[in-house]
Amino acid sequence: MSDLKDLFPEDDFGFRLPLRRSAPADFFAPSADGAAMLRERTKWLEQAPQDYAVMSDGARAGWNEFAELASAWSGETVSADPIQAGRQLEPDVVLLSRDRDGRFRVSGGVVVFPSHWSLPEKIGLTLLEVHGVVPGLNAAIGPAIDKYLDKIKPGFAAGRPNWGLAATDAWNLHPSVDAPKLEAGLGADQMWLRVERQILTPLPQSGDMLFGIRIERIRLNHVLNDPEVRSRFHRTVATMPSEVAAYKGLTNVIDSLVEMTG
Ligand code: HEM
Repeated sequence: MSDLKDLFPEDDFGFRLPLRRSAPADFFAPSADGAAMLRERTKWLEQAPQDYAVMSDGARAGWNEFAELASAWSGETVSADPIQAGRQLEPDVVLLSRDRDGRFRVSGGVVVFPSHWSLPEKIGLTLLEVHGVVPGLNAAIGPAIDKYLDKIKPGFAAGRPNWGLAATDAWNLHPSVDAPKLEAGLGADQMWLRVERQILTPLPQSGDMLFGIRIERIRLNHVLNDPEVRSRFHRTVATMPSEVAAYKGLTNVIDSLVEMTG
């Protein structure tokens, strides 16, 4: 299980920037769930590749560099075509390339297991623009994220987790998929904590930034079995601003989450 205490600090809800050293070779290495995950990725990439994989001209050099590095990290020859690579690699991958003013913009990648967003809609956007839909995020840490990305050196990889809740353990929650919503009355055994483990590392030759995402789903009642995690989760949901709860799709369940963990 991911380190749930990083996800739910002993504090009120807030957007923070806790980044830890991470290792791309571990991140891209095959996992126990790997075979099922790759079958699922292949299914979606065959069905609607344009919803999941995108490559702008500016990202070509970065992607070729990534494919070489990822081949070494994962132990198999990773394709220079993001659609093929998306069938070979368990994590999702986003590339950010610098524009003429030196700002990182989303330039390509393959994201088959998104949490209610779509990579094609983000192409060309800065991180401030990408995060503009998250209430309060830019005001709290938007400039700090940009500064951090400017500062990390090739060879260093940073990791961070993110979380959401879902009424399904489906990996793929792309907006085009008709996934069940969190409805009032769901019990903790009918909801899944969706942990996103993320990695950020600059590519030395192209100067692009690699952003990787791995999804882990844990049934909420299992998460809440740990009394400390339960109490931290309680504090997080009890202090979450309603507009953030709405963004995270929690409006219908937030009161019962507070109650069931209190
Ligand atoms: C260290 C840096 C970063 C931090 C702290 C951060 C934090 C966050 C947080 C807190 C959310 C809201 C998710 C939720 O609560 O459900 C979010 C959403 C998102 N972030 Fe980041 N993020 C970072 C870097 C990036 C990077 C490099 C990308 C690359 C494209 C990115 C892409 C996104 C996207 C696509 C979303 C979903 C937006 C939507 O719902 O349309 N983030 N981020």
